[in-house]
Amino acid sequence: MIHLGVNIDHVATLRQARGTAYPDPVEAARLCAQAGAHGITVHLREDRRHIQTHDVERLAAERRLPLNLEMANSEEVLAIALRLKPEEACIVPERRQELTTEGGLDADGLRESLGPAIDALKDNGTEVSLFIAPEPRQIDAAVALGAPAIELHTGAYCDCAAAGAEREAEAELNRLIGAALLANSAGLRVNAGHGINLENVAAILKIPHLHTLNIGHSIISRAVFVGLREAVAEMLRAINP
Ligand code: PXP
Repeated sequence: MIHLGVNIDHVATLRQARGTAYPDPVEAARLCAQAGAHGITVHLREDRRHIQTHDVERLAAERRLPLNLEMANSEEVLAIALRLKPEEACIVPERRQELTTEGGLDADGLRESLGPAIDALKDNGTEVSLFIAPEPRQIDAAVALGAPAIELHTGAYCDCAAAGAEREAEAELNRLIGAALLANSAGLRVNAGHGINLENVAAILKIPHLHTLNIGHSIISRAVFVGLREAVAEMLRAINP
């Protein structure tokens, strides 16, 4: 069975748009748990555009589901992760100007700075994954750095598929498949995420060895029309047909 981690960042986006106390990401996490999700993912961005430190504190205190904290490799956020001990931490690249996490982490180029952060998280009981593009040299770097898991960035595939660029989409999907095979043979746990929705998820399931799909924007968008519990339930049905 493939696990579903629901990224609830955009519940907080809606709250921050008005500076209200609602909608509450912690309440959203409860509904995700009721719907059968396997985990909760939040990205504590350095600019705090959506999820706030107090959200992560409350999610960590309640912990109905395993918590996956997406984080840049920054001292400030690392200290929070070490204090709150999420079950998982996914290290992502972060740029303030981006709308969302646009590319994968250059794990290969950043080995020196990533090593101590990965070791500190692991020693603290948090499983680390690296959010990378489906490139062999990034997988090799994840292995060398001792990260137990990777999350493959599916955004390029999803963008091509949405644009109807069939040939490019097929090439991107093949890159994801190759990367998953390589990562699995190297003993890494394979997660994937970014841009996944009900239309493209069937193709994403062609990626072998998937442990968890982390999905946010499309589920929260669907929730506006069908409610969060149903939006999570329909994605669960789609990923384990
Ligand atoms: N995985 C990672 C590492 C991400 O940064 C994001 C976006 O925050 C997601 C998954 C979820 O992407 P989406 O919101 O497009 O489903």
